[in-house]
Amino acid sequence: MSSEIEQAAAVLRSGGLVAFPTETVYGLGANAEDPAAVKRVFEVKGRPPSHPLIVHLADAAQLDEWVQTVPAAARLLAERFWPGPLTLVLRRSPRVPLEATGGLETVAVRVPAHPVALAMLAEFGGGVVAPSANRFGAVSPTTAEHVRTELGDAVDLVLDGGNCTVGVESTIVDATSENLSVLRPGGVTREDLEAALGRAVPVPSTSDVRVPGQHPSHYAPRARVVLVDPEKVLVEAELAEQLGHRVGVLLPPSLAGTTVKAHAVVPVPDSLDTYARELYGLLRKFDQRGCDLVIASLPVEEGLGLALANRLRRAAGPRSVD
Ligand code: TXA
Ligand code: MG
Repeated sequence: MSSEIEQAAAVLRSGGLVAFPTETVYGLGANAEDPAAVKRVFEVKGRPPSHPLIVHLADAAQLDEWVQTVPAAARLLAERFWPGPLTLVLRRSPRVPLEATGGLETVAVRVPAHPVALAMLAEFGGGVVAPSANRFGAVSPTTAEHVRTELGDAVDLVLDGGNCTVGVESTIVDATSENLSVLRPGGVTREDLEAALGRAVPVPSTSDVRVPGQHPSHYAPRARVVLVDPEKVLVEAELAEQLGHRVGVLLPPSLAGTTVKAHAVVPVPDSLDTYARELYGLLRKFDQRGCDLVIASLPVEEGLGLALANRLRRAAGPRSVD
């Protein structure tokens, strides 16, 4: 056991905060059973306390300690996808303090697929609440450097596990009944869920989701993000440049190789896997390059394209809620 993992477990036990890598994004972790530590997570993130957190566990075998009943479909998904980018919402057991669930009687649980996260969780032994390690509403971190830059001294320890391999957050499934639904599309695709269950799994439109924490504006860079049809990208970019904006362009595959008069032009990666891995880094890059406007289009909403479109829509969402 490396001394850094032991140190992380010690920080968690003493009520501190540890930022740690997962396969999706970096998390800002605290002991789930320590209400004061959980409160600090909300403070550091600037997140309203009504927004529930995900409890991370080392092993699916611990699930029954944290939730009351596990419907058969939820058990099947846990067996199939854990460790992995899937979060199950179930009825909370008394072990889960209401501070972690924003007062809800349900709790979100997941077993992450990252060796550093799993080592930390195993050494700590308990549940670790962890939202993405960014300020509320901002772009999620996919490197330890992103966390250090954004949260700095507010975190007691940052574990560096390299670049996140999935790059978008976990898929959240409401598994409180046998009628499952996807609350947030993510790293496990709807198609994967449906193949595992042998039936359709609805994905309610974002506007139908009432859970706190599913705000229309989220995952947003400083630059304003504008979504347009792929065939309008060139026109819109040039117009915005003429109006004096510093424009960043996420160039859709259909325009690959086209010259665009804009401040920063980044081609959308070829595969959806790569696009998901790189999306948040690209949004950060536009900010670093000083862009005040980013023009992008939505991918086809299949496979990881569903999660990518969800994050782009929210990056472009109304800012008034921030
Ligand atoms: O990939 C991930 O899920 C990352 C890594 C760190 O594990 N975590 C993450 O956490 O994305 P966060 O806090 O940024 O997003 C968790 C979302 C909340 O915004 C909320 O919408 C949903 O999970 N959630 C948590 N508890 C819930 C509950 N009891 N019912 C419904 N939704 C819940
Ligand atoms: Mg988040």
